This record gives sequence, structure tokens and C-alpha cells, in this order.
Amino acid sequence: MAGILEARGLTYRIGKKDILNGLDLTIKKGEIHVIMGVNGTGKTTLASVVMGLGGYQPASGQLLFDGEDITTLSITERAKLGIMLAWQIPASFEGVAVREYLSLGGSNADVPSLLKMVGLSPQQYAGRFVDDSLSGGERKRIELAAVMAMKPKLVVLDEPDSGIDLASTGTITRLIRKFKENGASVLLITHNENMASVGDIVSLLCGGKIVKQGKARQMARFFEKYCKGCEHVGKVEEEKLNG
Ligand SMILES: Nc1ncnc2c1ncn2[C@@H]1O[C@H](COP(=O)(O)OP(=O)(O)O)[C@@H](O)[C@H]1O
Ligand SMILES: [Mg+2]
Repeated sequence: MAGILEARGLTYRIGKKDILNGLDLTIKKGEIHVIMGVNGTGKTTLASVVMGLGGYQPASGQLLFDGEDITTLSITERAKLGIMLAWQIPASFEGVAVREYLSLGGSNADVPSLLKMVGLSPQQYAGRFVDDSLSGGERKRIELAAVMAMKPKLVVLDEPDSGIDLASTGTITRLIRKFKENGASVLLITHNENMASVGDIVSLLCGGKIVKQGKARQMARFFEKYCKGCEHVGKVEEEKLNG
């Protein structure tokens, strides 16, 4: 299967420190690909480099999206190609009606079916407003529906269970599966083993590289055993990786 996203030898440096250090990664079309790693390993940095956020130009290496070199494209150009970060729709849309909010990507959004997809009743929610009157969980659902409305090809989620307005892990993983059902590929960043179980494949980020890949359960066990509380980031011993 072809890779929707391929990172080849990606290096990203802050000062003299290589946060990403020759990272290779292939995300296949239609898969939910989880990246795990302890705090400070560079997960958010990787998401930022993939999104093309300002200032996150890699020092070397290449990013290919659907075969096209996107290494120097801006975040807007990448969004046009179908790469979207969940939960990063500008706050300037605060206060608009839910039905308008879901039509941000174009007027032909099927608002009722989008709301149903995220488990909200269209009758009850289409006329509500995107503001403090929504609970944290409702808001997360509506924001994800807005991303779905834009029909992304690759959705990047960075620690979707973090933040103040917690929705349950189960709710979030169900929503993530919806993206897959709709044909999108997903790059899911987490250090929560329960969340990682939604992944078709889990890659472990350590020392600026992907050091190990496997199925969710196997990787969760490895992470629990060797990575939790690890302070020597970047030095997972060979025998552990192969064990
Ligand atoms: N703007 C910055 N200036 C200096 N160091 C940074 C900056 N942003 C991130 N870092 C460092 O880069 C490393 C990776 O950070 P990050 O990608 O946020 O990790 P994670 O998301 O895995 O917790 C950390 O050591 C962090 O302190
Ligand atoms: Mg992070």
C-alpha cells in the first residue's frame, strides 16, 4: 500500500539540539498510525513539522504527501492538499452558530449527517452556538465534525485527551475511527496506552527517531515497561528493542 505521508531522514534542530534526528516514517493510506513517546521526546515537534507550522522547517530530510514533496510548503498549502490538525480551528470563529461553523470549509456541508457522525442530535445542536454554553465534550465533537466537513486526507491529532475540557478516551477513540471510516488517514500522538489501542500500528519515538514499531498491545506493553519514567531519552538499549 502506498504511503500517504512519508518522512525521510527528517532532522529538526533547536539550537544545537537535534529534536528530530534523521527520522523515517511511513503512514499508509487509510491507517490510524499512533506515535508514542515520553514527554519531551519531540512528538509535538514532529506534528508541527508535518503540519508545516511557521518556524518548523526541517534542517534536512524530506516530507512526501501522496508522493508529492511538501517539505517547503506552508501550512495553508498543506491544508489545501488535505492535511489538517484537529482542534486547531481558529478561535476567531467563537460565537458562530454550529451549522455555520460546520460549513467553514464550503457551503455544501451536510450538517445533519456531520452532527450524527459525532453523536449529536442535529435538531438539538445545529442552532446552538460555538461558545461557553457547550460542554467540553460537546465542543470537542463539534470541532472534530468541522474538521471532518473539510474532508481531510490526513488528520493529525496531538494528545487529543489532554487539556482542560476532557472528553473520555472512549469518546475520542470512537471519533478517531470515524475519520478512518470516512477514508482519512490519521496520525495520532499520545502517551496514553488506552488511546494507542485505536491504532493499526504504533511507532515509538525516542531520541529523535522511530526506534520501534508494532501492534498496539505489544507496543503498549513495551512502553509501560521501558519508557514510563525513562529519563535517558534517546537511549533505549538494543536488547530491549529486540526483546
Ligand atoms: N521553542 C523551543 N525552544 C527550545 N526548546 C524547545 C522548544 N520547543 C520544544 N523544545 C524542546 O524540544 C523537545 C521536544 O519537545 P516537544 O516536541 O514539545 O515534546 P513532546 O511533545 O514529545 O512532549 C523538548 O526537550 C522541549 O523542551
Ligand atoms: Mg507534546
